[in-house]
Amino acid sequence: MAKSKRQLPSPKYFFSLVEWNGPAFNRRKLHMKRALTVKDIAEVARKSVPKVVFDYVDGAAFEEISIARSKETFSRVEFNPFVLRDSSKIDTSTEIFGKKVDLPIIFAPTGYTRFMHHTGEPAVAEVAEAKNMVYCLSTMGTTSPKELGDAVPGVRRWFQLYLMKNREDSLGVIKQAKDSGFEALILTVDTAVSGIRLKDVRNGLTIPPKIRFGTILAIARKPRWWMNLLTTAPLEFAAFRGWTKSLSELASVIFDSSVTFEDVKWLRSVWDGPIIVKGVQRVEDARMLVEIGIQAIVLSNHGGRQLDRGTVPLEILEEIVGAVGSKVDVYIDGGVLTGQDVYAAIGLGAKGVLIGRAYLYGVMADGGRGVDKVIEILRSELVNTMALTGTRNVSEIRAAGVRIRP
Ligand code: GLV
Repeated sequence: MAKSKRQLPSPKYFFSLVEWNGPAFNRRKLHMKRALTVKDIAEVARKSVPKVVFDYVDGAAFEEISIARSKETFSRVEFNPFVLRDSSKIDTSTEIFGKKVDLPIIFAPTGYTRFMHHTGEPAVAEVAEAKNMVYCLSTMGTTSPKELGDAVPGVRRWFQLYLMKNREDSLGVIKQAKDSGFEALILTVDTAVSGIRLKDVRNGLTIPPKIRFGTILAIARKPRWWMNLLTTAPLEFAAFRGWTKSLSELASVIFDSSVTFEDVKWLRSVWDGPIIVKGVQRVEDARMLVEIGIQAIVLSNHGGRQLDRGTVPLEILEEIVGAVGSKVDVYIDGGVLTGQDVYAAIGLGAKGVLIGRAYLYGVMADGGRGVDKVIEILRSELVNTMALTGTRNVSEIRAAGVRIRP
């Protein structure tokens, strides 16, 4: 039997192996440094913010079946790698409305970002600018279109809109977007009414949060978050600043269950830039929207936050791309948490994906730095998958395709 030859331990060899990391005083920083995946960052986020905040981001509607199905469907995607292709140069860039972006990933519109971290929407938009990506500002943002445009003038930005029957109200926000350099409108159409968000009801979610007796304990648990909340500008729905409406009145105006395709036609007539419609789940709806002359659709069940048990976007992607993909760009969202998920969506024909929770975990964990880390994780996972599948650019991913295992 083979034996190793023994020797006395050499101090020089021992010290060459030593890596001294001083003691970690900031555990959150240490956990962020060690985070390897977006899921790891979600765990740091969970520890960084009050439960009501984390649950609002992480949770979904009713029995949370849709979001679980979206994730499960992603996990069934199988790649079919090419070997012996020169994969030494990987290009993750693509074009959106004729302009290059560095990744096929868009920052989805998400409400109340300053609730997740006091630096809010501008911190995310700064990362989008630095990475040459598109940032969508939500109507329910805690930063107004003008404030965002002033704070991060170089970011490519789209404004998310809910259509309201009162066209004067809609025009007011559309004008703000136009005047503040927003390139496109992203219209959300799956919010006839609000989804049944049981966690938010149970947690007593209000914006801004109410300070109750139990809150004292919450403050003691997450003092940094509370300190940041109380020492920065009050949380508000910034696009509606000046409206004298309570939150529930505002919500009932914004979620207007009477809007129809006619209202989309009207929007088409008053906005001359691109319109992206988010929340499509059926082929016939996609076809009708294409006829109206919009430029892109997002197959989405709102991350499972609206109708629970809605269609899983990845499952209808090929059919919808087959029906309308030559006329409009087709994106998907919901449950995209890894670079492999991004690859899977493109392999099934998507132009790209929108991420919401993924980047908000980064926001909650560490503001803009956390978002930066999320994007770098997604990028490196995508690059790794591209190299290992021998697909060197986004068109090659689309041409190679992927399978969904039954
Ligand atoms: C808003 O669109 C939400 O999903 O909370």
